[in-house]
Amino acid sequence: MTQPAPIRRVLSRRPTMLDLYCCQGGAAKGYTDAGFDVTGVDLAPQPRYPYRFVQADAIAFALEHGAAFDFIHASPPCQHDTDCQRIQGNTHPDLIAPTRTALETTGRPWVIENVGGAVPKLRAPVMLCGQMFALANYRHRYFETGGGFTLTQPGHPAHLVPQAKMGRPVPSGHYGQFVGNFSGVPLARRVLGVPWMNRDGIRECIPPAYTEHIGRAAVAHLAPVLGVAA
Ligand SMILES: C[S@@+](CC[C@H](N)C(=O)[O-])C[C@H]1O[C@@H](n2cnc3c(N)ncnc32)[C@H](O)[C@@H]1O
Repeated sequence: MTQPAPIRRVLSRRPTMLDLYCCQGGAAKGYTDAGFDVTGVDLAPQPRYPYRFVQADAIAFALEHGAAFDFIHASPPCQHDTDCQRIQGNTHPDLIAPTRTALETTGRPWVIENVGGAVPKLRAPVMLCGQMFALANYRHRYFETGGGFTLTQPGHPAHLVPQAKMGRPVPSGHYGQFVGNFSGVPLARRVLGVPWMNRDGIRECIPPAYTEHIGRAAVAHLAPVLGVAA
């Protein structure tokens, strides 16, 4: 019996993604790999960001231009929510709620990402771990979704490999914790898949494997809106 020829479904155009609080582009790399045309926004200059870049306040930019993009990702700074910052009495502004409010006005599907310390401020976040993507690292990150876009929580493989102490050199047979003024930039670049970054970018970044996973779900979500070419 003749098998039906598989129909190749391709989006009629490359979807656009607004990458708010983009830093050096860990999130952006994953979305690009998933098929998005990415524009990054950060308050600080980001000469290492590999894609189109605009230096601006993320919330102001989202309010003015967010609706022009197919999908929006936001990684508000997490310093407010890390243990070491709390110990130091740091009072960075909490940008999660105002970012959510801005994203909701765009009418677009979106994701807000943050660290474990911010989980009480996130609504039903999905947690991603390096073990879900065969990375030699754990680096948990949390993703709230909105604007009609949802993610399914993947299963969480057990952590079987011990971790080096935070920021310390990584003994053989251990995973690194690349935070603070960590040692081992070349190792961290390899493990997280961010060869263009320096230490400042690595300590902040989402491993691109996580956002490639999210990006593929976003492309599937957008397909009915964007249309597919046979
Ligand atoms: C956690 S990092 C983002 C990491 C990035 N998603 C990645 O995967 O590489 C947060 C970034 O927010 C930027 N930032 C802080 N306040 C901002 C604001 N009001 N508007 C735009 N960017 C801001 C910081 O300069 C920093 O680069």
